[in-house]
Amino acid sequence: MGKGSGFGKVILFGEHFVVHGVPGIVSAIDATNDAEVKKTAQGLTVKDIRKAATGYAEEKRLQQLESIDRILRAMGIAPGTVSIDILLGGTLPGFSGLGASAASSVAITRGIAEEYGIKLTDERVNEIAYEAEKAYAGTPSGIDNTAATFGGLLWFKKNMTSGANTVEKLHIREPVEIVIGSTGVVANTKAMVEGVADRKRKNPEEYDAIFEQAEALALIGRKALLAFDLKKVGELMNDNHHLLRQIEVSHEKLDLLVDIARKQGAYGAKLTGGGGGGCMVALTPSLELQGRVAKAIENAGFEVLRTRIGVEKT
Ligand code: MEV
Repeated sequence: MGKGSGFGKVILFGEHFVVHGVPGIVSAIDATNDAEVKKTAQGLTVKDIRKAATGYAEEKRLQQLESIDRILRAMGIAPGTVSIDILLGGTLPGFSGLGASAASSVAITRGIAEEYGIKLTDERVNEIAYEAEKAYAGTPSGIDNTAATFGGLLWFKKNMTSGANTVEKLHIREPVEIVIGSTGVVANTKAMVEGVADRKRKNPEEYDAIFEQAEALALIGRKALLAFDLKKVGELMNDNHHLLRQIEVSHEKLDLLVDIARKQGAYGAKLTGGGGGGCMVALTPSLELQGRVAKAIENAGFEVLRTRIGVEKT
């Protein structure tokens, strides 16, 4: 049997903007999707036992099958010739926005490689998972699969012409507590990404100005993180949420979660990932603040994950 894992992630700065070449900052979180892959005699089966938002598995089913097809092709294996059972689990829940699609693609790629005795470098795993991400995001930036493959806190900039993306590990003084709140609304990343591209094409001046601000936020955010100025990081996350609202990727439940988190004293809060539902991330340094924000979100009827960014081990 072959086994593999991939990290979940939160984007602190730059989702959607990264698709168009603006830099972003992403952190792996302490939760993974894990795959077990076993050769069998009767075609391809996928058993997905991940905890997930209602409707997540159904919404993603076709995209998941397409992603596995893409993984096999990228590995030089003709999909029709393959008989494997894939068991998908792990601690990362299927909530939109946490990179579960990329984490599962990385896990499956590593699992298939092990089962077939194929040696893959992390760079190659990342390339294959990027191909798989196309099934879920259409024209992905590559930020999710990069975080899912390598882990850590990363500066990411897509290369819009050709060649390698810019990926730098960022080191901060110590890990910082965050709260992730799930709206429970399953979102279609591909549709969200297409929507932004479409509105950008139709409103070039307005969108260019917003995209410039997003670039500035990522640059200042990077400095603030490295200086461990968490108040500043939080303010910039709030600004980033405002820009994401302007490009119409927020959702009333995301705005509600952001509001609850800020009222409880979170340093900053924003949607994370593709938006349109999915998840909110709040910066809550200290266990006390993290607990207070998480409780308030739970009391309002939403599920939370308490985790940290900047964990060096991931
Ligand atoms: C999804 O986690 C992030 C998006 O920017 C898509 C991508 O970068 O591929 C919305």
